[in-house]
Amino acid sequence: GMQVEQSPPALILQEGASSTLLCNFSTSTNNVQWFRQNPGGHLINLFYIPSGTKQSGRLTSTTVSKERRSSLYISSSQTTPSPHI
Ligand SMILES: *[C@@H]1O[C@H](CO)[C@@H](O)[C@H](O)[C@H]1NC(C)=O
Repeated sequence: GMQVEQSPPALILQEGASSTLLCNFSTSTNNVQWFRQNPGGHLINLFYIPSGTKQSGRLTSTTVSKERRSSLYISSSQTTPSPHI
């Protein structure tokens, strides 16, 4: 199967903080789905980003299939009530 390397491996954000997650994939893909895992272990669907850049609320993601990578930028949580990350 496909290997995924994520940096940082886990992220806990304070109110008002921003951060970026980076993933490298072992094979090229046009099917990137970002999830958030809550403290109970449940996976919450954030969004699907096949390629290019997509923005949704506080989240912006860029997937570059050829370079086998995707990033997720989480902007400051001060202004929007949800989703909480
Ligand atoms: C992804 O690959 C790039 C280029 O090889 C490397 O610099 C980066 O550290 C890698 N990131 C992760 C999360 O593995």
